[in-house]
Amino acid sequence: MCGIFGYVNYIVDKSRGEIIDILLDGLQKLEYRGYDSSGIAIKGDNPNETTIIKRVGKVRVLKEEIASRTHSDLDRSKIFNSHAAIAHTRWATHGSPLTVNCHPIGSDPKNDFVVIHNGIITNYKALKSLLESKGMVFVTETDTECIAKLFKHIYDQNPNIDFNQLTKQVLYELEGSYGLLVMSSHYPNEVCATRKGSPLLLGVKTDRKLTVDFVDVEYEDTKKSENNFGLSPSAALNGGNGHAGLRTTGSRAFLTEDQDGQPSPVEYFLASDPSSVIKHTKKILFLEDDDIVHIHDGELKIHRLNSKQIGEETKRQIQDFEMELNELMKGTYNHFMQKEIFEQPESTFNTMRGRIDFDNYKVTLGGLEQWMPLIRRSRRILMIACGTSYHSCLATRSIIEELTEIPVSVELASDFLDRKSPVFRDDSCVFVSQSGETADSMLALRYCIERGAITVGVVNSVGSSISRQTNCGVHINAGPEIGVASTKAYTSQYIALVMFALSLSSDSIGRRSRHEEILKGLQKIPEQISAVLQLEEKIKKLCNDHLNKQKSLLLLGRGYQYATALEGALKIKEISYMHSEGVLAGELKHGVLALVDKDLPIIAFATKDSLFPKTMSAIEQVIARDGRPIIICNENEGTISGMDSKTMAILEVPLTVDCLQGLLNVIPLQLISYWLAVSRGIDVDFPRNLAKSVTVE
Ligand code: UD1
Ligand code: M6R
Repeated sequence: MCGIFGYVNYIVDKSRGEIIDILLDGLQKLEYRGYDSSGIAIKGDNPNETTIIKRVGKVRVLKEEIASRTHSDLDRSKIFNSHAAIAHTRWATHGSPLTVNCHPIGSDPKNDFVVIHNGIITNYKALKSLLESKGMVFVTETDTECIAKLFKHIYDQNPNIDFNQLTKQVLYELEGSYGLLVMSSHYPNEVCATRKGSPLLLGVKTDRKLTVDFVDVEYEDTKKSENNFGLSPSAALNGGNGHAGLRTTGSRAFLTEDQDGQPSPVEYFLASDPSSVIKHTKKILFLEDDDIVHIHDGELKIHRLNSKQIGEETKRQIQDFEMELNELMKGTYNHFMQKEIFEQPESTFNTMRGRIDFDNYKVTLGGLEQWMPLIRRSRRILMIACGTSYHSCLATRSIIEELTEIPVSVELASDFLDRKSPVFRDDSCVFVSQSGETADSMLALRYCIERGAITVGVVNSVGSSISRQTNCGVHINAGPEIGVASTKAYTSQYIALVMFALSLSSDSIGRRSRHEEILKGLQKIPEQISAVLQLEEKIKKLCNDHLNKQKSLLLLGRGYQYATALEGALKIKEISYMHSEGVLAGELKHGVLALVDKDLPIIAFATKDSLFPKTMSAIEQVIARDGRPIIICNENEGTISGMDSKTMAILEVPLTVDCLQGLLNVIPLQLISYWLAVSRGIDVDFPRNLAKSVTVE
């Protein structure tokens, strides 16, 4: 997820080196959001020049690049009494992570206007065609470039326009979402910043006591020009004078002054989240959608894109933000793992967003469309992964086989390589990975590429090695996962793989009703996950009162729930250090039953599907040996509700379609592993001996 950072100093002497360090430090604080490249824009040596430096990779790489510049190339000692600069970490969406696509993005070779942008401009193709028809040449694959070029185009029609009016004219043309910062050699030391659907805030640093702790919002009666490209291009694009109508409410700008009314030194920090600002100042102002911040000569003004609506707040408060950095990044949660578990209603929704048309029962995976005919013709599908990602393959294997009738095998990457398993040109090899960097999975990918198979990635990190080196794939769009224990990536991988199965079999008329059933089920998953998360208190108590003292734990599942049992066992062992084992319920009588007694905790999945009677029989076998299982079942399941006295706990989850039930059943296990670890005083996000991304064999 991209990160935005901007810095403006006004009558505060700062060397270029200091400014660069502030920018790089700001970007480093945003690193946790996940990104694949970064860049900065600062003043050049000539007043009309902006210098942009950007690199693919970590901020460290950008830092090294800057450090390698010679004094004559980049004079770090040059002092700027007033200066505006912007910086960005990019998580690639439109356009792969190449240097040319990194932000800041300039409007033209001279970088008259330079922008950084979070979000997606949905009408960028129309804007691009229109601007190309006016002679502009695009050099990046990004949607952001059309913003920079719009600034230049509208400015060139009317160079007398005020920076904030110009910004408004540009915004009238944009559709989509944005957090946006713009600087320009035509408006030295000024920055305009705005947001719609993407967070943006501002920090104020001054030695003076603030005389007011708010900023008035300025409204103007402007008419939005028609936005009908190709047919009736807007006035601004056609060289309208950009003059906005009459101002209907006056306002005071925020300005720091000394006793004689003279402007006093001030620094402004703009960012997509407070983590990069609170080091410098705790005085923070959160912007609303459609606010346009204009910083100019130490003055801060907030304009609105549209005229005032009834009841609209006309002030933006400057707050004293007391949170510490660590607290801030985790929000109200104690650990990233907990935060990520609770993000799942949103992250699962994001995996499906824009890809499923629930009205017409249609799935579109843009990254696979062209490859679908070839994949459909494959002789086999091999799913290759490690750890949790391997479990998401196991969880979805049977629905892929059922819908596609293509044989599927699921492989642990290391074992697959150890066996030197045969791979053929007509195999499709699916690599599932949160990080996209896991060494075993990468080696297996190379092995399959060498043998000419079709390679498909199902990856969270855009721009990662697996995402880049596979022929095609699906980004699961779960957002950055920081906790070592993979949680939200599992549910998103699971959904991406179900969508993969649905896409592959979309031409099958005979399966239409099964498709509809699954799609209806998927639509409800985010809210059903929210319902399961309500179990947290009950699970916390179960962990503190019973499980915490145990040394070992078994998880019983069969059919779709075998993968859930394995995933639950992995979560529990890696985070709470308790030995735990996922067992196929049908295998109980072939050995594992010997372990069962009144003490050993056993978690059994007894949600309703065709195997329910068989699972119940395994549970009966456990109870007959004095075991007191914890049963995960559907709400109001009569057979089980009567078993209260024989069980340690009954955890009820909503019912969904058989092949999706694992998405709900895994949530209590994630919570159990989390609360077990907490009750044992373990550093949940950084368990011993483990790394988030395993980049060694
Ligand atoms: C893409 C855009 C998204 C935009 C949408 C609609 C990207 C990263 N995503 O999403 O911002 O809103 O179009 O225009 O630009 N790929 C691999 N291997 C992988 C994963 C992906 O090769 O492991 C490839 C895909 O084949 C595709 C590209 O990466 O070419 C983007 O994949 P994905 O993000 O899943 O595509 P869309 O959902 O179409
Ligand atoms: O990034 P990947 O999905 O490729 O990682 C694979 C495993 O290393 C990972 O799932 C690991 O098992 C997690 N720590 C499990 O929570």
